[in-house]
Amino acid sequence: MEENTKPAEPNAAPSSPPAPSPKRGWVAYAAVALVVALATAVVMYLGQNIMERKAEARLASFKIVELSESVVDPAEWGKNFPRQYDSYKRTVDIERTKHGGSDAFQKLDDDPRWRILFKGYAFGVDYREERGHAYMLSDQDITERLHVVKQPGACLHCHSSVIPAYRKAGKEAGVPDAGGFNWPQVMAGFEKVCAMPYPEARKLVEHPVTCGDCHDPQSVALRVTRPAFIYGMRALARSDDPVPHMPSVERWRKGSRKEEYDPNKEASRQEMRSFVCGQCHVEYYFKGPEKLLTYPWHKGLKMEQAEAYYDEVKHVDWKHAQSGAGVLKAQHPEFELWSQGIHARSGVSCADCHMPYVREGAIKISDHHIRSPLLNIARACQPCHNYSEAEIKARAETIQDRTKAMMLRAEDATVDLIQALEAQRKAGVSDSALDKAFALHRKAQWRLDYVAAENSMGFHAPQESARILAEAIDFARQGQIEALKAK
Ligand code: HEC
Ligand code: HEC
Ligand code: HEC
Ligand code: HEC
Ligand code: HEC
Repeated sequence: MEENTKPAEPNAAPSSPPAPSPKRGWVAYAAVALVVALATAVVMYLGQNIMERKAEARLASFKIVELSESVVDPAEWGKNFPRQYDSYKRTVDIERTKHGGSDAFQKLDDDPRWRILFKGYAFGVDYREERGHAYMLSDQDITERLHVVKQPGACLHCHSSVIPAYRKAGKEAGVPDAGGFNWPQVMAGFEKVCAMPYPEARKLVEHPVTCGDCHDPQSVALRVTRPAFIYGMRALARSDDPVPHMPSVERWRKGSRKEEYDPNKEASRQEMRSFVCGQCHVEYYFKGPEKLLTYPWHKGLKMEQAEAYYDEVKHVDWKHAQSGAGVLKAQHPEFELWSQGIHARSGVSCADCHMPYVREGAIKISDHHIRSPLLNIARACQPCHNYSEAEIKARAETIQDRTKAMMLRAEDATVDLIQALEAQRKAGVSDSALDKAFALHRKAQWRLDYVAAENSMGFHAPQESARILAEAIDFARQGQIEALKAK
């Protein structure tokens, strides 16, 4: 969808030509008067509009400081764009909703089944509800997961304004300085920083996500800066998974394909309003001993396609301590699940709901207080949905309540499978006899976790979430039967 997300006003019916009449003179006079009045109104309207736009332009581009690629501190950007900066700072706010919102409570206490589901993995020790962007770096510093397993510098790709660290490491790796963003240096540094131990890489970054991570410092136009996203989109473009909500990818596929797909060159503004978020709100894994951060989109964006990719490269996140199966951990696939929903299909971007416009006097800005849209229904939903706030909220929560009920059943089914496998192993059944059941545990766990780790509780794609959970239950129960049959 381009700029305008609202349906166009219905056109007025065309007027029929005037019938000849004896009172022609009067009619002509009236017509002239009408034209003059209309013209005056148009001129006044345009005048006001131009004034507003001028005020907007003046205020929006009033340069107090010179911004460049080396300005990382959001407070510096804030001098030129105080309104966006003020709302950006509000991501410290803590407010819960029925199924989301910001509050870093311990998910493992909230629903202890997850201690069983993650047995033997760092997530079984500490796994919290997420909160606002302001906390992304400090929450990563304090998670107990860091102490269970040594973490790599790759984590910082999505938890900090990491680009200067990439430049520094890229330069040390031999790529010389150059003007502008310097992609070769950033890409080389990305590989270096991914492989560093976390504590070493941590010293290279200072701030959570900052303005330059989504904006060009000169034009303030949207851009993507994250290497793993760019590699991920190239792989996706080369797949044949239909992505009707990404017209620039579909267009690239029909072209010569000589150069790799580049979101910064090809994507529309409306696509960029989701791509900037897709830099981090995605499923990922660390590839090989170099811990190269990789988005598994080589076969497409759907849940099964990521799974097929992991099966092909034989990726295992950990061996489940109770069941013995080699399983996968899903991580916040918001971008992927959104892609399967009716909003993406209708051209509605992440920013439409999570960064809606707010009017401040003569100026319209994008709300940089990124948070749950259910705390902001009037701006996030009502521009498109002509229902009361209470009704819109009830619709969203109905989807979430239903997803949650199905998710709890999938949890029970997967826990039952884990316990059946554990009992058989204790009874002395060999691992090779349990192969089929292990494979079914891997499938069930991946599906359950895919919906659980996604943060909208089904809202971003209700039917797809239900389908995935139904499969989780089915695979878990099939696995239980296989486990019980094994001798
Ligand atoms: C049509 C509106 C809409 C679109 C488009 C949308 N979201 Fe959401 N998102 C929601 C709603 C509603 C929730 C549920 C919030 C809650 O439960 O409080 C949500 C939840 C979330 C959450 C968890 C928030 C919380 O408070 O727990 C994240 C993160 C998120 N979305 C990211 C994204 C990303 C990234 C995209 C684009 C790839 C996206 N969303 C597209 C409406 C939307
Ligand atoms: C691809 C981007 C990405 C990478 C890489 C990444 N994270 Fe995150 N992380 C996120 C996003 C997005 C959220 C918020 C959504 C959520 O919590 O599901 C998050 C949330 C978190 C949280 C808060 C919620 C929780 O899980 O307790 C912690 C802590 C965290 N990450 C730690 C890490 C660590 C440690 C690493 C490296 C092993 C890492 N992250 C790598 C994107 C990423
Ligand atoms: C550089 C990586 C990165 C980018 C880019 C990013 N996010 Fe996040 N986002 C995170 C992390 C990490 C967290 C969790 C922070 C924590 O829990 O400490 C998070 C949290 C959130 C939350 C939860 C807020 C709350 O109050 O609970 C929402 C909603 C969200 N992001 C939406 C978006 C949207 C929409 C975009 C694009 C406009 C976006 N994010 C871009 C990494 C990112
Ligand atoms: C996670 C990505 C992200 C980050 C970080 C971010 N922005 Fe934005 N910003 C957006 C999006 C999306 C828009 C909407 C742009 C559009 O539709 O063209 C936007 C729009 C803007 C605009 C254009 C006017 C408007 O409000 O629509 C300005 C100016 C701006 N941002 C300044 C900032 C500043 C200053 C910071 C840092 C304090 C910042 N942004 C951080 C995503 C981001
Ligand atoms: C930019 C416009 C836009 C915004 C903003 C928007 N929606 Fe929608 N919504 C749509 C469109 C388009 C559809 C598809 C139905 C249609 O074409 O009429 C839809 C469908 C829905 C549906 C039906 C979903 C389904 O799977 O059948 C729900 C529920 C919904 N929206 C809730 C919300 C909520 C809650 C918000 C705010 C967080 C929101 N929408 C924001 C445009 C929007």
